[in-house]
Amino acid sequence: MSKSVMMLLAASTMLAGLAAVGSGQPAEALQTVTCARFPAQASSAFRAGVPPLKWRTDLPTALVPTVHPWEQVDFRTDWLNYMAAVLSEVQASGLKIQDNTVTMAPGAEWWIAPWMDYGPNGREAQLGLTKERGPDAGDLSPQSPTGPQVWAIGFYNREGAKALHDIFADPCNPSRPQLGWTFPAKTVSFKLLFTDAAVPYLAGAPKVRAYIDAAGSSSSSHPPSTRTKRQLQLLQMDIAVRDPRAPFGWLFGTFVWQNNQSGLYGDLTPVGLMWGNDPQATAPALGDFAQLPSTRLNSELAGIVWKGEDPWPERPWPGFQGRLNGPADNLRSSCLSCHSLAQWPRSPTLSIVPTPASRYTMAGLTDPARRDELRTKWMRDVPGGQLMNPQEATPGPNWGGATPFDYSLQLEASFSRMCSACRDGRLTGPTPAICRVAGLRQRVASANCPPISPNAFAAPSSAESEPPRQ
Ligand code: HEC
Repeated sequence: MSKSVMMLLAASTMLAGLAAVGSGQPAEALQTVTCARFPAQASSAFRAGVPPLKWRTDLPTALVPTVHPWEQVDFRTDWLNYMAAVLSEVQASGLKIQDNTVTMAPGAEWWIAPWMDYGPNGREAQLGLTKERGPDAGDLSPQSPTGPQVWAIGFYNREGAKALHDIFADPCNPSRPQLGWTFPAKTVSFKLLFTDAAVPYLAGAPKVRAYIDAAGSSSSSHPPSTRTKRQLQLLQMDIAVRDPRAPFGWLFGTFVWQNNQSGLYGDLTPVGLMWGNDPQATAPALGDFAQLPSTRLNSELAGIVWKGEDPWPERPWPGFQGRLNGPADNLRSSCLSCHSLAQWPRSPTLSIVPTPASRYTMAGLTDPARRDELRTKWMRDVPGGQLMNPQEATPGPNWGGATPFDYSLQLEASFSRMCSACRDGRLTGPTPAICRVAGLRQRVASANCPPISPNAFAAPSSAESEPPRQ
């Protein structure tokens, strides 16, 4: 831990309010990290007449030694039970999706990340969902068109939320994680993904209603004020676990909703689990699966979530040549490929997915040399707390030097939305240090956030307010 983070921590512990956590337990320090220089009305989650979001933002200032059920399970030999054990911790929160809404037991130890509530992709007012990448035609099912939206909400457990607290302890001026910084061991995050797409295998899936964009607005940007309440269905649930046994620090897994037989926790069906990108693994033809020692897949989902017996040219595999991804995700990537590029500022050469997209189309990838290029650039194994391209740490004339987020893309979204809010003049006062770093798309060079921008929230300028989601 850096000295400055330690000092921030000491200061914040003094400031933090004390809250009792149940009878017989010692009072515990929790801190809600809201920045008073950002008015509530500027939040994308603000809507007159709609009560504030009910998710926990009172971040814990300390860790509590905890034994998690998945610690006893060997993920290499018993990946299904490993995923079931993580799911059991989600279930223990009392999470329910019914009556068009999502609820959790009061006091459950899962927190949302700060600052994800700004701009066209920012949290909406009903459930706090953020707008995700719009799936391409043929991504979700052989017949799925372009246009559907995906909206999601992610939570961190106590270990993860304690790290969020350390970073946002000074709520208007978060501290930037330094090279080597990681989330604490046993951090878990889960993320629920919902879609307005009509997908055959989602018949009967739990429904929610939330303030989202007009039908067909999958990849266009709109001001939050134009959102309307529409129905979505649960599609996918992602998990990320910082398991000390994982070779690069993290395990990523996903479930897809299936079957409509045994309630939420029975119908969330494991798709797969991965702990490495297996950079050397190749396959003879584009549509083939590589031999991947660090990925496990549920073969029963062939023909549902990726190609089975019948043709499905758009989706031969879940992620690149059999690496893990969910139906909502870009199939030229993988969970670990995209997340290992979580850094500040974003990599100018690698972005988060194979770029430019026009070079890595399925047609382009029929060329084996193009596939090798994708694999050697994006399918690397990156230890948590390191950069995929270590040379990006070095500052240059137009580059402030990059530091990693230890696989957290929510941290990247938080930081970039905060800087967009400053750039637009919705956040007032001193520019957060993280926003002054050279090389940022939404860099604010001035000492103070500029006066309010007349274009803030207008579709054309907001469309550029954060890096592409892809
Ligand atoms: C194309 C890039 C991309 C791919 C591929 C991807 N994700 Fe993410 N993921 C994101 C972004 C961006 C966020 C943060 C924004 C958000 O949550 O809305 C995120 C957030 C998350 C979170 C919340 C915590 C965090 O790390 O930010 C989890 C958990 C997660 N993803 C799991 C997965 C899993 C599991 C897979 C594979 C099945 C996966 N992701 C594939 C882009 C990606």
